Amino acid sequence: MIVAIDGPAGAGKSTIARLLADRFGWTYLDTGAMYRAVTLLALEQGISLDDGEELGFLARNAEISFQPGPAGVPRVFAGCREVTESIRTPEVTSSVSEVSAHPEVRAIMVEKQRQCMDMGNAVVDGRDIGTVVCPGAELKIYLTASVAERARRRRLEVEKKGVRVSQKRMEQDIVARDDFDSNRLVAPLKAAADAVVVDTTDLDIGEVVERITEIAERVGVPG
Ligand code: DC
Repeated sequence: MIVAIDGPAGAGKSTIARLLADRFGWTYLDTGAMYRAVTLLALEQGISLDDGEELGFLARNAEISFQPGPAGVPRVFAGCREVTESIRTPEVTSSVSEVSAHPEVRAIMVEKQRQCMDMGNAVVDGRDIGTVVCPGAELKIYLTASVAERARRRRLEVEKKGVRVSQKRMEQDIVARDDFDSNRLVAPLKAAADAVVVDTTDLDIGEVVERITEIAERVGVPG
């Protein structure tokens, strides 16, 4: 069984997907981390971000993997090098939308994501899980929140790492990334027709997990 959690940046997808996977005893797959890892490698190797062919080649050869990490947050590896922290820098964040818009990159990533899902029950978060990667998912959630709230969450997240960004600047970044992810030609960010939309603007993490668990129970997940 697959639970797909799609939605824009800062909606809380990764936290919620991780907690749900924990509750169900399932695997959690963070597909954004996979696009981030390819982006990190591209930046390190000086590959032009508009060279879809070269980026596709890089994606095919990138050995991206996950291992259980502290507090349930998966550790991310490229080959045998841990990249858990380095895929979340502002440089990677500001380049990942461009890299992930290339059809050559997406084709490889979707193939790898489906291979991971073939291994068993999983909660998978991303932008196109319910629409493209796994249209047959038993449950599809589209998680969203207002731009101001999403920017506030992201700001607090980066502040914990010692980076100060104004609310206004963060809102501009979020709007730009939403715009890029929603308007690309291949697999744009959008809710699947059969997704349940959950607006988390006024909900805390526990409330979101409870709400989705109730929805899941209604459709017989985890079964
Ligand atoms: O969820 P995130 O912020 O870590 O995702 C990083 C970027 O990766 C996001 O801007 C769009 C892209 N992405 C995608 O295109 N498709 C996915 N399934 C997951 C992420």
